[in-house]
Amino acid sequence: MTLPALPTDLVTPHALPTATDPTAAIAELAGRFLTPNYRNANVVFTHGEGPWNIDVAGRRYLDFSSGVAVNLLGHAHPDLVAALQDQVGKIIHQSNYWHNLHAAPLARDLCEQFAAATAAATGTPWPARVFFCNSGAEAIEALVKLARRWHAKVLGRPRPGIVTMEGSFHGRTYAAMTATAQPKYQAGFEPLVPGFCHVPFGDLAALAAACTDETGAVLIEIVQGEGGVNLPPAGWLRAVRDLCDARGMLLLLDEVQTGLGRTGTFFAFEQEHCAPDALALAKGLGGGVPVGAIVARDAVAHALQPGSHATTFGANALAMRAGRVVLEVLARDRVLDNARDVGAYLLERLHAAFDAQPYTIDVRGRGLMVGVQVRGDPKRVVDAARDRGLLLSVAGADVLRLTPPLLVDRGHCDLAVERLRAAADEVLLPVASAISA
Ligand SMILES: Cc1ncc(COP(=O)(O)O)c(C=O)c1O
Repeated sequence: MTLPALPTDLVTPHALPTATDPTAAIAELAGRFLTPNYRNANVVFTHGEGPWNIDVAGRRYLDFSSGVAVNLLGHAHPDLVAALQDQVGKIIHQSNYWHNLHAAPLARDLCEQFAAATAAATGTPWPARVFFCNSGAEAIEALVKLARRWHAKVLGRPRPGIVTMEGSFHGRTYAAMTATAQPKYQAGFEPLVPGFCHVPFGDLAALAAACTDETGAVLIEIVQGEGGVNLPPAGWLRAVRDLCDARGMLLLLDEVQTGLGRTGTFFAFEQEHCAPDALALAKGLGGGVPVGAIVARDAVAHALQPGSHATTFGANALAMRAGRVVLEVLARDRVLDNARDVGAYLLERLHAAFDAQPYTIDVRGRGLMVGVQVRGDPKRVVDAARDRGLLLSVAGADVLRLTPPLLVDRGHCDLAVERLRAAADEVLLPVASAISA
């Protein structure tokens, strides 16, 4: 097959931007040289301060997206800045053939959190181990590989089947994308990874019916983030745990977005009164530095023997130092208390501002993971909010998602709600009025 010739401007290696405005110049370069898979808005950020982002023109934006639920400590947190500056001057990377000063202590701290949370849920602290990687999708890949290898090599009978929930989002690599039960993320990438099936979120009977002798694990995102800030029915996860125990399946949790205090407790599963066999973390773990991890019950973790799984950058000194600072600050500054308190306040303020609006379908959330479901195009509201100096993101088809840094205060929430309401009124009220007229 002969490929069509590329336009010459696409093959010019050192094309310089022709625009003089810095935002337009960067947008022009991006348009030429980055793969066109992102719909970037034309805003170029140069730096941040706490919950604020500042663009090249000096405009300030209140960041209630946090880089999609990543920057738990906001931008340029002094402890993170100091530690990373120090670490960069010492050592950034070595391979996993050797130890560094930070991976094992960070693993210990995560295991202590896991032990405390499982003890609260079951009465016994479950010992665990950690594998570090670089992103959420990679952590999900590791969970899938762990589950399959546990059945095949440790228990001696392959049970490759994995059931996931409709509306979930687990990432863009192959197993993570296949686990993601939303066809729009899979279109054109077939064939997908065999062995996955999907059932409606929160439907215990459908899950029980879908599980066969070949099913080795159930994978759940407790509060579906990308899917639309969807909360699980009360008691459902606990019942899933019982089903897994009865059928010898592993319960795997995707806490990539919900973990590290986002929903008001260190792990979201703490609010469900049951415990998983393994879970995935990423997003907030490095405070903006790419870090992913799985935390797995000790016995299950032994499925990953030398040579079975690895990643070059995983557990590197810089990433691990970042993770340690994040955990230290969360504990020292009682950040989870703030996330619970301010999260409840934000939800209350959103109810007050949006419940009576004709375009509002629902306001819901847990901790500082909150959504406003609307009739109309949420992307246009996000754009209008950005023009008013507020950053947030869209989740699902119709949800405005707020995931601010966990250190925001009530004043930040008041300002965010005021700006969001103004943006939503501008975009959605005319449509709602036209429909009701
Ligand atoms: C719940 C969940 N799991 C997995 C992922 C994938 O993480 P990453 O984009 O770091 O690969 C995401 C990303 O949004 C997520 O929200």
